[in-house]
Amino acid sequence: MGLYDFWLDIRDKCLTSPAFHKFALDFPFTRPIVRKRQSELFDFVSGFVYSQILFACVKLGVLHYDRVKSGGATLAELCEFTGLGPDETYRLARGAASMRILQERRGRFRLGDLGAALSQNKGACAMILHHAALYQDMADPVAMLAEGRKATNLSTYWDYALSNDPKAASELEVAAYSDLMSASQQDVSEEIIASFDFGQFDKMLDIGGGQGTFATRVSEAFPELEIGVFDLPSVVERGHLRQAEGETGGRIRFHGGSFFTDKLPTGSDLMTLVRILHDHDDAPAQKIINSAYEALGAGGTLLVAEPMSTGGHAARISDAYFNFYLYAMGSGRPRKPVELVKMLKNAGFAYAEQKSTRSPFTCSIIVAQK
Ligand SMILES: C[S@@+](CC[C@H](N)C(=O)[O-])C[C@H]1O[C@@H](n2cnc3c(N)ncnc32)[C@H](O)[C@@H]1O
Repeated sequence: MGLYDFWLDIRDKCLTSPAFHKFALDFPFTRPIVRKRQSELFDFVSGFVYSQILFACVKLGVLHYDRVKSGGATLAELCEFTGLGPDETYRLARGAASMRILQERRGRFRLGDLGAALSQNKGACAMILHHAALYQDMADPVAMLAEGRKATNLSTYWDYALSNDPKAASELEVAAYSDLMSASQQDVSEEIIASFDFGQFDKMLDIGGGQGTFATRVSEAFPELEIGVFDLPSVVERGHLRQAEGETGGRIRFHGGSFFTDKLPTGSDLMTLVRILHDHDDAPAQKIINSAYEALGAGGTLLVAEPMSTGGHAARISDAYFNFYLYAMGSGRPRKPVELVKMLKNAGFAYAEQKSTRSPFTCSIIVAQK
């Protein structure tokens, strides 16, 4: 037993002792620590309620209501806007104000600082709304874990998660998640472009690149780069439609197929896997990496970008949130960078290393070279 374990034993003895708890609360210097711990624990208890208040605000469009955005809405105005009764509206608005989604000022409700930031982030709002499926799946978390992997609301939403034949998915089955992925690309692509120099490459293939939103952001920033997107045929069809509507970069080439059964197009010196590997269990994830390795020429680079289990401030997001989200979805898990590096090396990559990003909450990056 090491010194740290010895300290942990002492800590636990103290924290499980009612006498120590009373002392720590009575003693002015330890009281703030006790209060902080109590508040942290209570946040876990009430987290579901916070989520639901936020969900209700986004669903009702409160953050985008003109009166809320400019100067603040009175309770009567909020009632009219939400269609809820005065008591119900007041509870919602007060709850949201306690979470800094709204702010109560001189009898009016205006945007709070968190609400203001969220209101301009369409992707985050879309993400919040699709959580209805997750909340239903996790209504009884013990049952969810006891029953094992099975069809859920979330696995239906992410059609490929439990599918034996993802290529057979119809356009309708991929529409919701493809649009959600496009809507939530803004922060992700900004983060990746800020952290990695695409300018050193000639030709890039974005594997599982959806409707081409990430590819479009990269091509705007690096117009010289030739860019292709590989995704399921029905997703690629949507990419073509968006391209025709001018939403997706006109120069981007789409390739339809499955990375499990089809060979990836060759000729790129850079391949990207953005928010892909964490969707898949170890064996299929390794298969995707192996396919990318095969399709890259000698010296080619593979960029992996997704939320990873990096510990520290982002630990709760990866190890609690993504861990359970992906379990409910029916496939995949967030991985530690060392695990991904090992998988990349298993595939044959000579070099694989984590690169720092500004916000590991959005994604972490690993760069591998063949
Ligand atoms: C979580 S989304 C990420 C999309 C995009 N990279 C992004 O970050 O916005 C996963 C993507 O992988 C695609 N995908 C899933 N299974 C696939 C398969 N077997 N072959 C090719 N693409 C697949 C999905 O259609 C979807 O576009």
